[in-house]
Amino acid sequence: MNHVKTFEVEALRKDFPILARTVHGKPLVYLDNGASAQKPRCMIDAIRHVYEQEYANVHRAAHELSAACTDKFEAARRTVQRFLNAPEDREVIFVRGTTEAINLVAQTWGRANVKAGDEILITAMEHHSNIVPWQMLCEASGARLVVAPMDDTGTLMLPEFEKRLSPRTKLLACVHVSNALGTVNPIEWMAQKAHAVGALVMVDGAQAAPHQRIDVQKLGVDFYAFSGHKAFGPTGIGALWGRAELLEAMPPWQGGGEMIKSVKFEQTTYNVIPHKFEAGTPNIADTIGLGASLEYLMGIGLDAIEAYEHELLAYATAKLGEIPGLRIVGTSQNKAGVISFVLDGIHSADAGMILDEQGIAVRVGQHCAEPVMDFFKLHGTIRASFAFYNTMHEADALAAGIRKVQELFK
Ligand code: ALA
Repeated sequence: MNHVKTFEVEALRKDFPILARTVHGKPLVYLDNGASAQKPRCMIDAIRHVYEQEYANVHRAAHELSAACTDKFEAARRTVQRFLNAPEDREVIFVRGTTEAINLVAQTWGRANVKAGDEILITAMEHHSNIVPWQMLCEASGARLVVAPMDDTGTLMLPEFEKRLSPRTKLLACVHVSNALGTVNPIEWMAQKAHAVGALVMVDGAQAAPHQRIDVQKLGVDFYAFSGHKAFGPTGIGALWGRAELLEAMPPWQGGGEMIKSVKFEQTTYNVIPHKFEAGTPNIADTIGLGASLEYLMGIGLDAIEAYEHELLAYATAKLGEIPGLRIVGTSQNKAGVISFVLDGIHSADAGMILDEQGIAVRVGQHCAEPVMDFFKLHGTIRASFAFYNTMHEADALAAGIRKVQELFK
């Protein structure tokens, strides 16, 4: 609670230029952070500075600009290392985002290690990006995709999860925080159970990393992925962390410049990690921008952010709980700042449009999690997803906006 009292949300909001604008003449209430978060000025300035003052290709030239840009680029890698408490910076691979990170592991580690008869274990609450890459791997290898079920609150059923682990399980691939339900999974415990049967563990941290302190060593996982754009950074950049010995043993994925040590027509030898997995000119300015946004987040403190968002979630859940005809989908005991809900007799898309007219941005639909919607027998939900710059006042605005939607449909 002390954290929350000292959390200077109004001052922090000023760091985000877009939060000052209006939408349809109303103050913007941005509650679509699960889809993509807004950007602090320090990140925008970092990118502008690179392009105006320091831009050149990285790792490729002896000139001053290239050296300066390479330093910043590699500093961003060390920032990600600190952000995840990773043992080494060479374990951080820059990718386009979580989706690319998962595909990288599926197509490199997966193709080299997963054979017919093996199993990949996922959960019933995965985003499409942590389902489809594994289905593709299973199709190619003859392995089987196994799904650990959740209960009606959207909580993973732990005994059922344990029952699905066996010596056939080669990998547990699971989401840290569900984007559609907000459920926080007990990753540390799950990783211990998976390791006990000899499986590796890959975590989709897209909805977790921007909202709580991530410590990959404490979690005890093998791979962890997150996206920059949900962490107040640029789009098109994210990171995969993997244990060094695993990354070293994995074959490369994309071939090209940077990922090689030597190229002969007869034979090519590959570079060391992380470069082995970073073929071609990388997304230089956005990587530096990501470094700036993560430094900004660490400056505020991820523990303070988590505590504040927890209070915000509790407040908004209580407010929405008072509204007759509103049902929250995803009521796990352990939740992050996501409230998915449906309104009796009102289509989610209509509700989203009317909320938008009031300046309130939410996401409606399946949230790239069709199996979750099927489980709850829904076509879609309305989803408010919070960030540390949201306020209790905005939760009130959401509740008032929903009541207005209901008035219009009476
Ligand atoms: N995965 C993002 C979301 O949940 C796009 O909205």
